[in-house]
Amino acid sequence: MIRFVHARDYDDMSRKAANIISAQIIVKPDSVLGLATGSSPLGAYKCLAHWYDKGDLDFAQVTSVNLDEYRGLSHDNEQSYYYFMHKNLFSKVNINPERTFVPDGTIVDEVEACKKYDEIIRGTGGVDLQLLGIGHNGHIGFNEPDEVFAKGTHCVHLSQTTIEANSRFFDSIEEVPTQAYTMGIQTIMNAKRILVVVSGVDKAEIVEKAFFGGITPWVPASILQLHRDVTVVGDTQAFSKIMDLI
Ligand code: F6R
Repeated sequence: MIRFVHARDYDDMSRKAANIISAQIIVKPDSVLGLATGSSPLGAYKCLAHWYDKGDLDFAQVTSVNLDEYRGLSHDNEQSYYYFMHKNLFSKVNINPERTFVPDGTIVDEVEACKKYDEIIRGTGGVDLQLLGIGHNGHIGFNEPDEVFAKGTHCVHLSQTTIEANSRFFDSIEEVPTQAYTMGIQTIMNAKRILVVVSGVDKAEIVEKAFFGGITPWVPASILQLHRDVTVVGDTQAFSKIMDLI
């Protein structure tokens, strides 16, 4: 089942999403959170850090597993997702660093890297709340459009549109890694609850396709239509093509 929560703008979307994450942690202090990087969740992370500062939130028992990581980037590389998570959330709250997991981009052997991450996810006992952004081509994590839905953690070749979209974080497009390790679709679908954040008019088309179009691996996010408990928090621009449908 998909619930749509309409937010006025990016800040409103971020607060609403952070409220949902916050409620999850309050109700279940030892929650396993599936986390994402990118622009969409940044505002929510800021809110969570702020509420932690105020004494309203406690991450002491929380475990986190991130969706993805560029292959080949070390933890201290500023473009790595490990670095992003530390900078924007982990260093700002009292989460136990030993309970924060991001796929290890430095493991060269892809079979080993993926197997290790699947074992880590299994070891957490399962994700309670998975936070997701959506790529312009419908990717979730780095599950790119394909002929099939990939199940577990795997190594992907990033599509040209994803490389172009992510080049905004790098000095030049040539520096964007072309491969990444990502959680699979089945792992994402195994999460008890899913929270999607979408903002901006450039996401309007994919939001319509993903949630009101056919379910196909060519639009990976469309699989979310089959999940029991999905909440999509989007701003007016991102929801502009679905306003009459929700
Ligand atoms: C990031 C991730 C990606 C992003 C997606 C949207 O960990 O898994 O799927 O969520 O590319 O990115 P933004 O939010 O930057 O538009």
